[in-house]
Amino acid sequence: MPLVAIAHREPEMSSTDRQFGATTAGAASRLTTWHQELFTAVGRWQWLHALNDAVSGVVQPLYDRYRDNLAVELMHGGRWAGHALHPALSDLPIGLWSSTVVLDLLGKDVPIAGSRMDPAGTLSAAGLLAAVATVATGVTDWTVSDGEDRRVGLFHGVLNVAGVALQGASLAARLAGHRGPARALSATSLTVTAAAGYVGGHLVQGRAVMVNRVAGSAGPNRWVRAVPETDLPDDTSTGVEVEGRQVLLHRSDGELHALDNTCSHAGGLLSRGDVTGCIVTCPLHGSRFDLRDGQIVRGPAHHPQPVLPTRVRNGWIEVRGSQPRSRREKT
Ligand code: FES
Repeated sequence: MPLVAIAHREPEMSSTDRQFGATTAGAASRLTTWHQELFTAVGRWQWLHALNDAVSGVVQPLYDRYRDNLAVELMHGGRWAGHALHPALSDLPIGLWSSTVVLDLLGKDVPIAGSRMDPAGTLSAAGLLAAVATVATGVTDWTVSDGEDRRVGLFHGVLNVAGVALQGASLAARLAGHRGPARALSATSLTVTAAAGYVGGHLVQGRAVMVNRVAGSAGPNRWVRAVPETDLPDDTSTGVEVEGRQVLLHRSDGELHALDNTCSHAGGLLSRGDVTGCIVTCPLHGSRFDLRDGQIVRGPAHHPQPVLPTRVRNGWIEVRGSQPRSRREKT
């Protein structure tokens, strides 16, 4: 039986259809790029640059004056917590104010007998108290950020301050018996605080602020020559790159020490900092690490510096990172 080719013609699209298709594709693309556009715009806002300069001018000298105080290190979370305190504390006002809105929606904002406060207002007030600690730790962390991170951090802070102010106004309205405005202000406060939380999330997940910058450091998985032994006299240090990894080498009393040169806090190069005895100070925000074991002597860093084994062979200082896998493990 002869095969018959059937010509199939796509129905022609009208210009309206084409326009509709383009609009839909544009809207779909917008759904995936709006956040990039938002943070690009944030980077261009001149008012934020000016505010950043003004706030830094007030807060930074204060921080620098008290930076060696243990209370300041504790506000960062420091070596004791192993993490920043601010993100954990921020859950408190968000949780308490979310509960306030739920109680408002359920109509549980009726004053408790013998008091002007209602259950929703109690949670609102508790959230405001928690916000004091959250703001204090946030400002402390903000002082050890730089450049674009600092401006985005300030935007996060501005939104949070607006959220706190709205919640305060809501509580005042509640105590004055104006339930309608109190509910509206409380819901607006939660919305603004949630937006601030989104910006905070971008700082950590999008810009890697407050993450351990050496968490993924590994290698080289064999001994590799770093510098000739004669290039590192006693009581000197140097930074070298060994198979793509930044390494700080130091010799003290004839003993060699090697640490990851990238500061775990925010990526400063330790080889550009001062070394006193066996302690190196990061030039960016002043974290101090013990060269012998990489442990934190003083924050804001939360994570110690990885230590690399060293040896001298044929006039060269050699270093090694991760251990080679054993043959049995390979098979
Ligand atoms: S980069 Fe912040 S202390 Fe080193």
